[in-house]
Amino acid sequence: MSRLDSHLETALARIGQAGQRRHLRASALSPNGRIVRNGRELVDFSSNDYLGLARHPLLIERAREWTARDGAGSGASRLVTGTSDAHLALEAKIAAFKHTEAALVFASGWQANTAMIPALLTAMPGAAVFCDRLIHASMHAGLAMAGVRQHRFRHNDLDHLEALLADKGVNAPARLILTESVFSMDGDRADMARLCDIAERHDAVLYVDEAHATGVLGPQGRGLCAHVPGRVDVTMGTFSKALGGFGAYVTGSQVLIDYLVNTASGFVFTTAPPPAVLGAIDAALDLIPGMDAERAHLATLGKRLRDGLAALGIDHGASSTQIVPAMVGTEADALALSARLEAAGLLASAIRPPTVPPGTSRLRIALRATHGEADIDALLGAIGGAR
Ligand SMILES: Cc1ncc(COP(=O)(O)O)c(C=O)c1O
Repeated sequence: MSRLDSHLETALARIGQAGQRRHLRASALSPNGRIVRNGRELVDFSSNDYLGLARHPLLIERAREWTARDGAGSGASRLVTGTSDAHLALEAKIAAFKHTEAALVFASGWQANTAMIPALLTAMPGAAVFCDRLIHASMHAGLAMAGVRQHRFRHNDLDHLEALLADKGVNAPARLILTESVFSMDGDRADMARLCDIAERHDAVLYVDEAHATGVLGPQGRGLCAHVPGRVDVTMGTFSKALGGFGAYVTGSQVLIDYLVNTASGFVFTTAPPPAVLGAIDAALDLIPGMDAERAHLATLGKRLRDGLAALGIDHGASSTQIVPAMVGTEADALALSARLEAAGLLASAIRPPTVPPGTSRLRIALRATHGEADIDALLGAIGGAR
């Protein structure tokens, strides 16, 4: 054991005592809403492959074609030799899809948030920052890297946001509001129209993470920012969830993109996304606008699941999307329920602190368009039987 390992063992023991120790387990996504784990096929309620695109033949084929054409790697960072015609064409296609002036691709959503937030705050010295208390860890990490104090408003409580803006924001030279349009662990939505009104009234910049809305919600799957065209300053999202691939985007004005190209460390100092990744994204963007039937099916499944959970007396919070939490309470109860479901052939992972606030451990049920109503009924039956 190295000198370092003894410190790490102690820290891991502490995590274990809190019931928060995690382990990696190998899984393989199947095209039919199933996942294979330990040689067993399980109905998968844990992946974010909402539209079943991760195994779609068009994405696989285009990733293969672009690799054969352009190689396995991109050779350098974007500002050196890593920008290909394919990067620029894809960014133009993303901007057209999102109806914005410009777009920029990042290696991942985590990287995008941790790179953009400090970069933006450098251009807004002294800005007061307001964020929903449930924003994703990558946004919190970006804020920590920027070294700014955040004013957190209660989840989706826009009265609280307004009160904080009126108090803490009024004398600041600039204001930045950060939120998600669909919250990753709760499946509820931000009120985009009211957020835009508030941002405009308080002269605040609005930054929205659409990781879980892109592809699934809004006209042609363009996300919830599409309902408030031109009113959100910075919209980002990932290609790793409903779009079935990997990587992330930011959309907004050309000036925003020019600024990020010059200053966002996680864009400047990293190798450009490779052809396979770009090809899969390109194919997903061809498919997404035409997937209204899949989006409607997801909405129907969501309602069926929420109604069923309510009938079992299980709180599903304010979910109105393809993400449905089944609130259990303690870490131990959530783990036990998840284990019982897995024994019954259903994978619904337990989500525990620090990912969610203490006392709100849950099963985070993620629906896929490849699920059928019978899958939902089987899940409900197993949850009911396990309690
Ligand atoms: C809201 C949100 N933002 C950002 C990310 C990070 O995206 P990525 O997985 O592409 O790094 C995730 C999930 O992973 C997320 O849920």
